[in-house]
Amino acid sequence: MRLLEIIEFSKEYLEKYSFSKPRLESEKVISHILGIKRIELYSNFEMELEQVEKDKIKAFLREMARGRKTFDEIMEEKKKNSSSHDAEEKVLEKKSFKEENIQLLSKSIQYLKKYQVENARLDAEYIFAYVLGVKRISLMLNFDIEISEEQKNLIRQYIIRRGKHREPLQYIVKEWEFYGHPFKVDSRVLIPRQDTEILVEQCIHLMKDIENPKILDIGTGSGAISITLAKELPNSEVLGLDVSDEALKVAVENRELNGVTNLKFLKSDVFQHVKERNYDLIVSNPPYIPVEEYNELMPEVKQYEPKMALTDNGDGYYFYKKISEESINYLKNGGYLAFEVGYNQGETVSLFMKKSGFQIVGRVTDYSGIERVIIGRKEEKE
Ligand SMILES: C[S@@+](CC[C@H](N)C(=O)[O-])C[C@H]1O[C@@H](n2cnc3c(N)ncnc32)[C@H](O)[C@@H]1O
Repeated sequence: MRLLEIIEFSKEYLEKYSFSKPRLESEKVISHILGIKRIELYSNFEMELEQVEKDKIKAFLREMARGRKTFDEIMEEKKKNSSSHDAEEKVLEKKSFKEENIQLLSKSIQYLKKYQVENARLDAEYIFAYVLGVKRISLMLNFDIEISEEQKNLIRQYIIRRGKHREPLQYIVKEWEFYGHPFKVDSRVLIPRQDTEILVEQCIHLMKDIENPKILDIGTGSGAISITLAKELPNSEVLGLDVSDEALKVAVENRELNGVTNLKFLKSDVFQHVKERNYDLIVSNPPYIPVEEYNELMPEVKQYEPKMALTDNGDGYYFYKKISEESINYLKNGGYLAFEVGYNQGETVSLFMKKSGFQIVGRVTDYSGIERVIIGRKEEKE
């Protein structure tokens, strides 16, 4: 049950008992139980409440209805009785840090929203989970523990980095999942995108029946594509290349992290140092954002991710053209070339590929219907 529904429910409950201003009364009760300001309820309407919080709200409402007392009257009474129950109260206060933690989380979300962070709640939860050393999914189960001052300071610093400085969440938490595998990421590499999983999925499908497929990944970055293919196709032999020394260092770390052995990395400007010419598959997610669009990118991307991973400093087609023209010489007959493409580039990229001697065998769209992957096959020669 979401917060908004609980407010509605509480209001109706108090209305039944003829309270005046039942909405105001119910908001006072709920903000008191959650330990947040009444105004903060409005920006958390979607928040899911824990069972224990719902039970406390119900108990408070019942107390009000039974005694026909307003929220303020009950609080006044509690205050009067408090001196005699001081010791008892202290024990109760100690019981759980959940309310305090929820308040801190809620403030963090507000802060991120103020800076227009798109998924403020999700990002705040990832930051809390990272600092507390738990998975985001189980954050709420661990939310009654005491967050130390040191941890609170870290959370504050990370929330400021994410909000005020708009640093990508992935660089703050340093590790991100791609195709279910862990990848270290920092400002030396592009953050692997979910869209690229579609490209990887297609490559696995193309290679799964080949006994020992040889695969070349151009512009490997963090190693996301190379490492995933090497892991998912353990009989393959993969070469990942990149022109960036810094990116290659991260790729090597990720190879270790994932325990992959059937994969080598090479520093090369596209095909410059590629020696073998018998690949079954050449795959690439090249820098494809046209330079004019680059200037319009979100601050997270533009200020933090490497420019050379995003744009070719031209019309966005430089790498598609170059790789299409040259890869025909590096593939076996019947070998495949698979590209990730930008949202409106599929048609032009297919034309480049056809012109270079490829037969287009796949044009794959993502879950929102945008063309994301183009696959060509080098025609068999008699
Ligand atoms: C869009 S990123 C892709 C990174 C990774 N493959 C992924 O999908 O997450 C493009 C990569 O191409 C690399 N790159 C840029 N120019 C290159 C060139 N001339 N030769 C080889 N790699 C290049 C960049 O360093 C960057 O790592």
